[in-house]
Amino acid sequence: MCGIVGYVGYKSVMDILVDGLEQLEYRGYDSSGVAVMCDEKINVYKAIGKLNNLREELQHHRGEFEKSTMGIGHIRWATHGAPTVINAHPHTCNCGNLVIVHNGIIENYKELREDLAKKGCVFRSQTDTEVVAHLVAQKYAQTKDLAKAVREATKEIDGAYALCVMHNDCKNTLVLTKRNAPLLVGIGDGEFFAASDVPAIIKHTKKAMYLSDNQVAVLTPEKMVLTDIDGHEIKPKIELLPWEPVALSKMGYKHYMLKEIHEQPDVIRNILVGKLHAPDEDIILNEVKLTKETLKKLNRIQIIACGTSLHAAMIGKYVIENYCGIAVDVEASSEYIYRRNVTDEHTLVIGVSQSGETADTLTAIKQAKAKGSHILIITNRPDSAMAREADSLVPVNAGIEVSVAATKSYTAQLMAFYLLALYMAEVKESTSKAELTTLKTELMFLPQKIEQILANTDSIQKCAKVYSSTKDFIFVARGINYPTALEGALKLKEISYINATGYPAGELKHGPIAMLDETMPVLSILMKGCVFEKLLSNSEEAKARNARMIALTNSKDEKLDDLFENIIRVPDVEEVFSPLVAIVPLQLLAYYIAEFLGKDVDQPRNLAKSVTVE
Ligand code: F6R
Repeated sequence: MCGIVGYVGYKSVMDILVDGLEQLEYRGYDSSGVAVMCDEKINVYKAIGKLNNLREELQHHRGEFEKSTMGIGHIRWATHGAPTVINAHPHTCNCGNLVIVHNGIIENYKELREDLAKKGCVFRSQTDTEVVAHLVAQKYAQTKDLAKAVREATKEIDGAYALCVMHNDCKNTLVLTKRNAPLLVGIGDGEFFAASDVPAIIKHTKKAMYLSDNQVAVLTPEKMVLTDIDGHEIKPKIELLPWEPVALSKMGYKHYMLKEIHEQPDVIRNILVGKLHAPDEDIILNEVKLTKETLKKLNRIQIIACGTSLHAAMIGKYVIENYCGIAVDVEASSEYIYRRNVTDEHTLVIGVSQSGETADTLTAIKQAKAKGSHILIITNRPDSAMAREADSLVPVNAGIEVSVAATKSYTAQLMAFYLLALYMAEVKESTSKAELTTLKTELMFLPQKIEQILANTDSIQKCAKVYSSTKDFIFVARGINYPTALEGALKLKEISYINATGYPAGELKHGPIAMLDETMPVLSILMKGCVFEKLLSNSEEAKARNARMIALTNSKDEKLDDLFENIIRVPDVEEVFSPLVAIVPLQLLAYYIAEFLGKDVDQPRNLAKSVTVE
């Protein structure tokens, strides 16, 4: 979604801003802009589309900002008003003295806008953000204190925001604040950075401070002053950022997505380190803060997530119920938050999120926490808002994921669920020791199996070529791989824009079968196990309607050669772990199809990496 970068110090600001925005590009955006303090006044430059358009615009004005050492920048993912230059940030007040960038959504912007219009403010854009520019400017006119003006203005604002503000009167000052949207300050020597996410500043500093809700930071080259919303000074909590700049390089791959798919064996190895030493030893999961007694008595779990994380959660349900005998409900966060939810202190609520910032999941977690549930968060971002809400934090350590389509973070989430389920099964003694040992042995071999798939992608590339011209695509599976079908379909539609759907194969004949004819590819995820034969029959039914049948399988059954026009083979694996092995070819299939079609693989249209609005 939107991204913010800010700088105040002694270096030439424009390169820092534009480079910082480039590092946030992966979040998804449709326009960009910067405001910099020039000799006499603040200048604003904006463009629609990709950052290159902004760079071109800046070329025409180089002389104006060469010496400038303070500014703010923004990439915008349109919510209120179309992606136009006028709606792009930064936004200014009427006289242009005050400039602002904003992430999030101002919920009461209509009321504020009407009120401000009555007081003489003239609105140029359709955005909610412009309201904040006028509101802060009004407060500044009364107080002549920018930090105070920001504090007073935010008291009147409902919604989510991360704000970065500059004023012509305050030549070397940036003012920052936030509520329900991330914002951090990077600390240098004689310089400060502001950013909505780590990649924007990690090149420059690893020393940082995350703002908490309603805090206001005033940055000048010499110092940072942090206050609460009433102006009381607070001691900043400075920490070291975990990311290495190299994580943001494509390392020779054409796209981040391809690089991240190839990182999956190592991601699995990393997750196992320190948690699983040997198959006959217990899993160590110190991150789970529930006592063993509570775990033994636990009889209900709710898992909340969105998108790809939701699919990981669905597999988590299957594994936990199977090995721990605990009832698990899985729900999309956006559904969870708008109904009466039955949860309490006896329920374990698990939130799953790559970014740890997804607005719906964050709200759901807060609701469950208010009802007294123990909150366990599975996230790739231990520095995120969700992580800060956690009673138990299980970081998945997949490393930064840049491509909008989630791949390695999904694998990492699945691993977290496997470890959690086996750990709880050990504590509860709900599965025999012998079976647990077999499962742990298999778990340790998973990286090699995925490496085998990555080393041999010919059949996947062939399928990609054959089916890249299709308009629709159906994925079917049963049991533990039904979520794999959903995830395979999600990957394909996200990056290729092909209308792809995942179905539980048994549901085909209850409706979807009507769509099948000789133009429709149907991919069956046929992994050996309890539903193999059933899925084979469902595939026969689809073949009888002339569908173009593809198998993704670990079976060598010869019957498959007659039934399927293309077969993607994967290594043999225990059924419970088959989702990990099956998803990799589906990620690659989506990737190669999108590549053939010339799509923007890493930044698909309309999508954002981190969905910080409901
Ligand atoms: C799909 C994808 C999205 C996210 C969803 C939740 O490839 O990336 O569907 O999975 O927006 O995001 P997180 O996991 O950050 O909560």
